[in-house]
Amino acid sequence: MKLAEIRKKFLKFFASKKHALIASSTLVPLNDPTVLLTTAGMQQFKPYFLGERDPIKDLRSRRLASVQKCFRTSDINEVGDLTHLTFFEMLGNFSVGDYFKKEGIAYAWEFLTKTLKVPTQRLWATFFKGSPAGKKNKFSADQEAFEHWQKYLPKNKIAGFGPEENFWGPPGKTGPCGPCTEIHYDLTQTPCEKADACLPNCECGRFVEIWNLVFMEYFKSTSGEYSELPHKNIDTGMGLERLAMILQAKASVFQTEAFTKIIQKIETDPRFGLTGNSLEDSRRLRIASDHFKGAVFLRADEVRFSNKEQGYILRRIFRRACDQYLHPGMDLSRPVRAVVREYQEVYPDLANKQAEILADFQKEYLAYEKVRNLNLQVLLKQLPPEGILSQIASPEGVSKIHITGKAAFQLFSTYGASIDQLKQKGFEFAEAEFELEMEKHRTVSRAGAESKFGGHGLNSAALSDVEREKITRLHTATHLLQQALRDVLGETVKQEGSDINPERLRFDFRFAEKLTPEQIAEVEEIVNEKIDGDLPVTFQEMPYADAIKSGALAFFKEKYPDPVKVYSVGDYSKELCGGPHVERTGQIGEFKILSEKSVSAGIRRIKATVA
Ligand code: SER
Repeated sequence: MKLAEIRKKFLKFFASKKHALIASSTLVPLNDPTVLLTTAGMQQFKPYFLGERDPIKDLRSRRLASVQKCFRTSDINEVGDLTHLTFFEMLGNFSVGDYFKKEGIAYAWEFLTKTLKVPTQRLWATFFKGSPAGKKNKFSADQEAFEHWQKYLPKNKIAGFGPEENFWGPPGKTGPCGPCTEIHYDLTQTPCEKADACLPNCECGRFVEIWNLVFMEYFKSTSGEYSELPHKNIDTGMGLERLAMILQAKASVFQTEAFTKIIQKIETDPRFGLTGNSLEDSRRLRIASDHFKGAVFLRADEVRFSNKEQGYILRRIFRRACDQYLHPGMDLSRPVRAVVREYQEVYPDLANKQAEILADFQKEYLAYEKVRNLNLQVLLKQLPPEGILSQIASPEGVSKIHITGKAAFQLFSTYGASIDQLKQKGFEFAEAEFELEMEKHRTVSRAGAESKFGGHGLNSAALSDVEREKITRLHTATHLLQQALRDVLGETVKQEGSDINPERLRFDFRFAEKLTPEQIAEVEEIVNEKIDGDLPVTFQEMPYADAIKSGALAFFKEKYPDPVKVYSVGDYSKELCGGPHVERTGQIGEFKILSEKSVSAGIRRIKATVA
């Protein structure tokens, strides 16, 4: 059964159980400072689980299902084995205060054994057996899940585990979480030397976890306290690639079509320098194919190569993928095209962005080659004496150089030399210390980003005057766009985010449905009408409360200084904003919507530009 068929069957099954089908959100979560990337299907539904929003109002159902793009760095060192991945797709069904344990387990069982016809004797379940005595947060055993499972499985195939295995979440330090039950598949049906103690989660390779059902009832605060959520929820996640591996009777996820063509493209690149089918080569191929795929998906979701946050993750996996090749001068278009071809039907964005992804990859590759070629002795000279702890000459004449984590970070931030590369060059350092420096750096750059409030990054020295001016024009156009969207779609339209660069504006807003071509045309027309009207743009300073009372639109996620500036465009739009803006709308130029799509549950994204 192919990936496409599995996705379809999953969605069809849950639609038949009255679930609303929701598109995957982007890999960069919207307005969620607790995580860098989307690691689970539940993330886009967090406002519903937390009781902040009503799913009926936004999505017309308390039952939701999705196939979600996910990216996890937690397993990065495991990638190269048979089942771990950084990028993967997660099949998930969710209940927001609707059904709970009984139906959650029943649906999973029915889908696996009836729809997919997975033989029941291969299936095992785990449940939460409670937290160990003496823990600050004491949770009791999930007797209820254990009992529900006994309808489907003999007791000896239902194993209890502690919080390490069977208490899920939250992703990040705070958020919704709860005990879980997992379904594992018995690959070999042969216990290891542990005999009866060879159970799911055994490290011998007998089992593979396929589906995690979270009974999401708690909220974990930043201080580590647990409280009950307003309602009891279900959050499930099943790895598509692992399921395909089982259904296709393959020994690894890399032998399913999620990878075969990508691997083939790398393997048959004459410059790859494969020395035969050695185990090491297969491992390198698995890492390269996983990381290239992940890099393509991250870049398609607008992550840019950088030394921080999502950009650093992209950089790290891309460079690590490159490291798997023996010779420089690789043809990057081979793996990129293979990923796009395999996934474009489900994720059409990939095909549209193939050229820009490739161009970016090529640029990054050249930058990386430069770093690779940097001589160790040259790098060493850049470091202050206190950064170098010791140097040991090995018999081959190659030095092992012990440096501080801070010094390693300095090489990283100046040259973009990654942890892996620095190690390859012979540097040794405490990774934890490096991470600490990285964290400090992040905090500083975040503070920097926040202090740019309202300025849309206009302070960046990298911008030319023409680019600054374009950004200012796009900024005023964004105000017109918000008001025009409210005119056409109704006052429920609310800004969820905005981002402007010299090429385009990006505006995220809450709205349940895809816009029709007529609606898009109408919005465009209104904005252009206001531009033609050459309306004056003015601002007034006033206390925050007065501004809100006057009906000015505010973006609730933003922290505004008080008093605030209220920008008016003629008498058409009125918004709290830090500026800057053009003086008259006639300066904006022609407004054009480039795209409109969903980025998260109930949230649409418009990209537009001015000419
Ligand atoms: N949130 C759970 C997981 O990621 C189930 O979707 O495993």
